[in-house]
Amino acid sequence: MPEALHKIEIFSMCPSHVPQIAALEAETFSAPWDEASIRGELENPLALWLVAEGIGNPDGADKSGALLGYVGSQSCFEDADILNVCVAPAARRRGIAEALMRELEARLIPKGVEQITLEVRASNEAAIRLYEKLGYAQVGVRRGYYEKPREDALIMQKKLV
Ligand SMILES: CC(C)(COP(=O)(O)OP(=O)(O)OC[C@H]1O[C@@H](n2cnc3c(N)ncnc32)[C@H](O)[C@@H]1OP(=O)(O)O)[C@@H](O)C(=O)NCCC(=O)NCCS
Repeated sequence: MPEALHKIEIFSMCPSHVPQIAALEAETFSAPWDEASIRGELENPLALWLVAEGIGNPDGADKSGALLGYVGSQSCFEDADILNVCVAPAARRRGIAEALMRELEARLIPKGVEQITLEVRASNEAAIRLYEKLGYAQVGVRRGYYEKPREDALIMQKKLV
């Protein structure tokens, strides 16, 4: 695979990203965020959403400017929550989610965030492995938290300081 296929750039979400994020949400999750809710996050002072775009490759899933993944968060004083993280199926297992999560941490620490919490479906092995690799640990379970299908959520947390 040419080196250029691995190159990404990470940006703060802006209005032009919203339709692509909504499309990836709809393709991926059984209870997706819709376009209006995602756009609302642009006005939310507590929200920080980052996107990964491909650079340097003229065609395919990585074509310059193609949205390859995103992570959404909200923070309040020392606590942040990750709301969603997703990478386009064709771009998975290339470190994009890891890069997005690390960049999010780097941007939240100067805001005074000391810990990040998230929920994940108990069967979502890929996401759980990702969070463990980044240093998240399970701190609880919400029984039957998810619908479509009904499933427990694992609560995972990472201390940043
Ligand atoms: C979970 C998800 C975001 C991972 O994105 P990704 O870009 O493929 O992940 P990365 O390439 O950055 O992987 C980083 C680490 O996560 C773990 N990981 C990622 N995908 C994995 C998989 N399918 N199986 C096992 N471990 C996996 C590995 O530890 C990996 O490190 P390694 O490559 O050194 O082994 C992606 O699979 C996805 O979008 N899934 C659907 C949406 C979703 O479930 N989001 C989470 C909701 S809580």
